This record gives sequence, C-alpha cells and structure tokens, in this order.
Amino acid sequence: MNKSNNKGTLRALTAQVLYAVLEQGQSLRDCLPKFQDQVEEKDRAWMQEMVFGVLRNVPLLQYWLRQLLNKPLKGRQKIVEHLLMLGFYQIAYSRVPAHAAVSESVDATQALGSHALKGLVNGVLRNFIRENEQDDVPEQPHIKVGLPKWLYKKLSGYYSDSFDSLLEGMKTRPPLWLRVNRQQTSRDEYLDTLKTQGFLDAISVSTLPTHPDAIILERSTNIRSLPGYDQGWFSVQDGAAQLAAQYLQAEDGERILDACCAPGGKTSHILELSPNIQSCLALDNDQYRLQRVDENLKRLKLKASVKCADVSTPESWWDGTPFDRILLDAPCSATGVIRRHPDILWLRKGSDIEALVTLQKQILEGLWTTLKSGGTLLYATCSVLPDENDDQIRAFLATHADASIVPLEPDRPENTYGRQILPNESGMDGFYYAKLLKS
Ligand SMILES: C[S@@+](CC[C@H](N)C(=O)[O-])C[C@H]1O[C@@H](n2cnc3c(N)ncnc32)[C@H](O)[C@@H]1O
Repeated sequence: MNKSNNKGTLRALTAQVLYAVLEQGQSLRDCLPKFQDQVEEKDRAWMQEMVFGVLRNVPLLQYWLRQLLNKPLKGRQKIVEHLLMLGFYQIAYSRVPAHAAVSESVDATQALGSHALKGLVNGVLRNFIRENEQDDVPEQPHIKVGLPKWLYKKLSGYYSDSFDSLLEGMKTRPPLWLRVNRQQTSRDEYLDTLKTQGFLDAISVSTLPTHPDAIILERSTNIRSLPGYDQGWFSVQDGAAQLAAQYLQAEDGERILDACCAPGGKTSHILELSPNIQSCLALDNDQYRLQRVDENLKRLKLKASVKCADVSTPESWWDGTPFDRILLDAPCSATGVIRRHPDILWLRKGSDIEALVTLQKQILEGLWTTLKSGGTLLYATCSVLPDENDDQIRAFLATHADASIVPLEPDRPENTYGRQILPNESGMDGFYYAKLLKS
C-alpha cells in the first residue's frame, strides 16, 4: 500500500499497526513511524490518536468483538478483527460519524485484500450501532478500566485508595517537556528566543521551581522546528527523568558511572549540570541504543566515555577504581510511562515482573561493589510497581549492612525508602528514585 488517498487506506494501515503490536508483539516505537510514513502528513496525528485509543481499551473492544462475531477470524483474516476494533472505537469514542466509520472500514477491508469479508465488516459494524453495543460494558473491572488482568490486580491492590487518580494519570495526554542545555544557553534566554520567534503565540508554556532547566509545552510539536535543536540548545526529556541528575548531585572532580545509559538522556543532563567532574563512564548492553547516546552527546556538545557492557558483571568492564556516584536507571516494566507508550499494556506480561526484579537485584549487587565507601548510588525506574521499587530497595537494605537511605524529599512518608512519582504528578511520568549511601 503506497502513500495515497485510496479509500480506506488510512484505516487499513492503522489496523496494521494494531496487528503489529497485538499479534506480533512489536513496539509502537518501532512500528508506528513506519506506518505513519505511508500516510499524508495531515493523517499522522489521527493514526496515532486511534492507535492509542484502541490500545487503551483493548479488553472492552475485544469483548464487543466476541459479542458480535460468530467465530474468531484466523490466519490472514485475523487483521480484520483489528479493523473491527478500530471501527468500534471510532463509533464509541471518536468524533468520526458512525456512517463514515462503517463505510471507510468496508473500504479498508478491500484495501487489506480481504474482499470476501466486506459484508461481514459492514454487518458487524451496523449491528454495533443498531444494538447500541457500546452501552454493554461488562462488570469485570479490568475490562472497564482497560488494563490487562494481571496489572489491574497488582495496581488495584497496591494503590487501593488512589487507584482512580492513578488510572486517570495513566491516560492523561502528557505535555512536552524540554530540558534546556545550560552549557549552551539558559532557560530564560531560550524562553526569550521562543517568544521573539513567535512560538509562544501558538503554544503555551510553563515552568516549575522544582525543575530549573525545564520548559513545559502544553502540547506536542515538531521539536526539530524549534530554534536551536541542531545546535544542541535543548533536549526532550520528561520532568521525572530530569530529576535524576538533580538527585545524583555530581560534584567537581568526581568519577561518575551512568550504568544503564542509553539513549543518554540522563547522561547528558549529568554532564550539563556538572561540567567539572573528573569522568563519566556511560554503559549499556545494547549496541544499537548506544549509537543514540553518541549522537545525543555530539549534538549537545558533551563528552563521556561510552561503552557496551553488561553492568551486572563488573569483572567484565570495571578497572577496579571505585566510583564516587552511580546512577542506575534500571531496566523495568515501564508501567510509569504507559500514557506515552500504551503498547506496554499488552507487550508486558505478568510473568515478566519477577524476571525484571531478579535482573535489577543482580545489577544493583554488582554495581554496589564498584562504589566507593562514602559514595552514593541513585536507583531509578520508570515503574509504578512496588516490586521493582520500594520492595527492591527494602530487600537490598536488609542484606547490605553498609547501605543506608539518603532522603530525597524532606517529607518522606513513613515506611517508604524512595520517592514514588505517580503518572501526571506535576505533569511528570510515573517514576521511582531511591538514593543509597555506602558507609
Ligand atoms: C530505562 S533504560 C535507560 C534510559 C537512560 N538512562 C536515559 O535516561 O536515556 C534502561 C537501559 O538499560 C539497558 N540494560 C538492560 N540490561 C542491561 C545490562 N545488563 N547491562 C547494561 N545495560 C542494560 C537497556 O539497554 C536500556 O537502554
């Protein structure tokens, strides 16, 4: 299917994105841009909105599918189920007129090469409308709130009192956070540039005292069109991630390790905030993602020693000289960033969590041996699951007599170790930080 205005092409390509995520396990980061490239510029935002909308409502859309489809479609026809879910979503939740959703879906069936199913698509969508199927919402709570069962169980258990606001935050459209590179310009100067070049007429922006380098744009924009992108005046980085370098507090002359660094968002912020450290070693075990670290450092005019290594086995990469400070931005469930990546809901499985907790533990233990006495390790995840956060740190403290907590906030709630940020708290992603001191 070429970039064209063929009838139904946009829906057919959108159904293919859903198929790639839900049937083939591809991430949106990988597949959405490829499909967006095949449609007109003006339709790209629509495609994203529909894909995000469907992914946030999969259990209910699948329930409706089961009500209206006599038997599941198989093999090459399976993609038509995704087209139908997209159709239900348009009719139930979007401003697309119902008749247009039906006729465009029928055209899309043809564009997908499933001519024989045109009648079925037409019939199922018409029944959906006629029978007011969208009012049929089953009692199972995970279906109502659009979460996989395992995640619903975990989150409703952990966050019983604040579950509704957690869900709200997980669905809120995030603002666009910029981080001004203070080695190139200042936030005030950059705000002036945005103003004089007319950007602030179109987008309203705000700042927060807790985030000295951040500018928050109320909505997304093409960042390459903003002044100074190529010159490295700013990066795109969520507010929660901008706290890492602040909490790390690297000082002049120190040896810093950024253990899981790719694509380098936090590495570069550390270097912007602390230009006089002795060295910054940035490690990751993903060679491909490390290329992004090099590109980012080059664009921002910063320097670090970037290496590919498995951080859980220090004997394979450590020269034996202890680090003053370590940032461990650990591999995690990413349940704090579902509002940006709703595919996580369906790509992550409940069984992944235990394996991640074990990996995080291994990495923490390995890195602890490379930290000097009196040094600090900042542990971070973009997760909202206590298993990966406070429980992980509690277990570490229980087995490491030389570890203690450095409070990150003055009013740390009792029986907690780190700071759990919930999605959309001050506009930030869900994140967790805990700072450990080695005695
Ligand atoms: C949350 S991401 C890091 C984001 C990064 N700190 C930033 O701010 O741009 C976690 C990273 O851990 C890396 N990783 C996972 N397991 C690892 C291991 N055993 N050794 C080194 N890196 C690992 C992944 O490749 C991934 O890039």
